[in-house]
Amino acid sequence: MKTIKDFDLNDKKVIIRVDFNVPIKDGIIKDDTRIIESLKTIKYAINNNAKVILMSHLGRIKEEADKEKNTLLPVSIRLSELLKKTVKFVNKTRGEELEKAIESLKPSDVLLMENTRFEDLDGKKESGNDSELGKYWASLGDIYINDAFGTAHRAHASNVGIASNLESGIGFLIEKELNNLLPAVNNPEHPFTVILGGAKVSDKIGVIENLVNKADYILIGGGMAFTFLKASGVEIGSSLLDEDSIDFCKKMLKENKDKLILPIDVVTDLKECFITDITNEEKGLDIGPKTVKLFKQYLDVSKTVIWNGPVGMFEDEKYSGGTKGICEILRNIKAIKIAGGGDTASAIKQFGYDKIFTHISTGGGASLELLEGKVLPGIEVIK
Ligand code: 3PG
Repeated sequence: MKTIKDFDLNDKKVIIRVDFNVPIKDGIIKDDTRIIESLKTIKYAINNNAKVILMSHLGRIKEEADKEKNTLLPVSIRLSELLKKTVKFVNKTRGEELEKAIESLKPSDVLLMENTRFEDLDGKKESGNDSELGKYWASLGDIYINDAFGTAHRAHASNVGIASNLESGIGFLIEKELNNLLPAVNNPEHPFTVILGGAKVSDKIGVIENLVNKADYILIGGGMAFTFLKASGVEIGSSLLDEDSIDFCKKMLKENKDKLILPIDVVTDLKECFITDITNEEKGLDIGPKTVKLFKQYLDVSKTVIWNGPVGMFEDEKYSGGTKGICEILRNIKAIKIAGGGDTASAIKQFGYDKIFTHISTGGGASLELLEGKVLPGIEVIK
């Protein structure tokens, strides 16, 4: 697969699809990790005298009113600060103003086009991969570089559409994500342990099915653990239950008894207790300290660890002990340590453990689909 390094960028109009879908509140960017992670590719293009045209989506645009809070203008300001260079922001996604701005670019100039999903208002043209839109955007550049790993599981006009119409390659961020995630999933050093959390089993069925035969252990925490516990015959009180997934959990537990490790104690809204002591009114919100110790036995011997989903409701200090405990164990082990998923990455950063990981993916849905063994259309089209 071609990467940005395989092209002569000099004086070329290079469209770089980035994932600037960052959390923004009242015009303030709450987490700029994805912008920072895009810098390597953007700087490379600047240093190689490309005329840089950046495209990204932000949020979901269903009605006119969604546009105002999803403009990429704040991102262009932050990007200018990070690059220490003017980023020309064009608040259009097509038309004369955009085309003229692109034509007036000089080598090493950087332009950011408005949110690609503004095109969704007119019949979902971006999200529906409208072929005319993909062709039109492709006509604005000479080379297309996809570096939006977080969007690679989508087949949209700004990734699959453009790449189908223009010479294309991947950027450094996608390259880094693939170089870290693929070997860990497909050729892991054993023992290989997967930590799964998050609310619903149904969100993780694909991952469990794909990894259950590759991993040595799957440690289950978070809201989803209660559906597994219920399937194993434990009463879980008012804890989260994903009723439709019970049969799946029963089957998995039957076939992989020694591989799927469930919590033995919990922190509920009322107390800390063994899972067998949860009363009807109680809701389990975190794994307990005995479970952290139990998980430690498996993690201590692991050579590869993939973590997707916090093991408790970490946003509330009272229920953050489990997720922090896992971070602390991982700090002390020598292994390939990979984390994926928006919430997992936020928790790790919030608790200050980001430096101890081999790789923290910038993709939520994209990294999950990769763990499910699925093909990512935004990457496949470039292959
Ligand atoms: C993400 O944040 O997961 C990506 O940017 C994709 O966004 P989407 O789920 O709105 O397509």
